[in-house]
Amino acid sequence: MALQKLKFFIGTILNPQDDKKCDFYAHGLLVIEGTAKKARIKDLLPLEKGVKKYGSYMTIKNTHDLGHSLIMPGFYDMHFHWVQDDVREMPKDSLLGWLEKYTFPTEMKFKDKKYAQMRAEIFFKKLIKHGTLGGACYSSIHEHAVDAAMKRAKGHFVIGNVLMNMNSPEELTQSEEESLKLTKRLIQKHGKKHCFTPRFAITTTPEVMKEGSRMADRAKCFKQTHLSETPQEIDFVLSIYKKLPGFEKVKSYTEIYEKTGMLGERSLMGHGIHLSTKELGILSKSKTSVIHCPTSNAPLKEKGLGSGLFDFKKIEKSKVRWALGSDIGGGPFLSMFDVMRSFVDQHQKKGHKSATYVKALYRSTLAGAEILGQNKNSGNLNKGKEASFIVVPLPKNKFPIDAESALESIIQPLNKKREKYEGLLSDVYFNGQAVN
Ligand code: GUN
Ligand code: FE
Repeated sequence: MALQKLKFFIGTILNPQDDKKCDFYAHGLLVIEGTAKKARIKDLLPLEKGVKKYGSYMTIKNTHDLGHSLIMPGFYDMHFHWVQDDVREMPKDSLLGWLEKYTFPTEMKFKDKKYAQMRAEIFFKKLIKHGTLGGACYSSIHEHAVDAAMKRAKGHFVIGNVLMNMNSPEELTQSEEESLKLTKRLIQKHGKKHCFTPRFAITTTPEVMKEGSRMADRAKCFKQTHLSETPQEIDFVLSIYKKLPGFEKVKSYTEIYEKTGMLGERSLMGHGIHLSTKELGILSKSKTSVIHCPTSNAPLKEKGLGSGLFDFKKIEKSKVRWALGSDIGGGPFLSMFDVMRSFVDQHQKKGHKSATYVKALYRSTLAGAEILGQNKNSGNLNKGKEASFIVVPLPKNKFPIDAESALESIIQPLNKKREKYEGLLSDVYFNGQAVN
């Protein structure tokens, strides 16, 4: 009986394992098993072997010959702001100027519940078309915007309302009491899918970070914020906190988050570009993860905020966990292929030979799943995991010989037409079901 539920997918298959290893099947067979709503990966093997093993079960109806297409796991985007879809391509000069001029006014619009629901419908459909099936997401300050996102996000996401209590425009400023009540309510409503999200130390008071962190820890929820994205931001943070009781002696941005309970194994720090060795030590010891957002940090001429380049070698040497994110709308495009391209291009330009596409793929899939504790079930195409994957047709004349050349052949040709990464995917499967 169970065998009737088998489905077969033939294609060029990539199965990321770590920074250096991505299993590659030039002609591969992916076998999935389950119901119409929930399917798992039963097998992944070379086509020839697969036909010997499963040939008698393969029919025209249950076999999808994807021919010259790549099959690979769905993406984890570990840092993005769903409410910043309209800010992605707005002019950028510096982080703090861009926040004031474009980002905050855009997020204010989400005060209108109907508007927020309408935008969530559009955004999360678009996200699926880009093959992103998991990650960590920032919403606006508004409760109904988080609810709207939770309802529409398909995949393994944690989502939180940004908390803003100081140094923010009036329309986006909540009292500490409001922020904490809201945190309590959202944890009750969404459980572990709620992500405690102080926007950053500039806008969120230490009381809210401390008390909210406690609530999040009790509920085993994730926590996310921004850390050390630009030197100007760091100076501003330190100038604010040096005047706050209990923080007079803090020496670094990371110490502020340490003192407010923001660090830990369920903590995600966006950016973390300008960090001292001592700060990296604190992050490592607390098992905190850093999320690298190369397209957002890229120079202005590449549509980024020009924040600097994350030093992944230093981060890895300090044994700090990390994954990739788009930082929509600091990052201009939703596609994790664009994020992978930017990672490889920027680091290769600096002579970092280990910045490969294979590494970028691992950091855009399994590394995110590992950080979110989803890796037993998701993140790659290992046997037993959920059947969630994307299909990407290869250029006609390309016959890759390994994972690196396969990824290069789809990513490099569009490096000057970045908006086109969106159209690369032909299919997106979540739990065995086509969802795009
Ligand atoms: N720091 C605080 N808020 C934001 C934001 O919305 N985007 C980015 N890139 N950095 C931030
Ligand atoms: Fe961000």
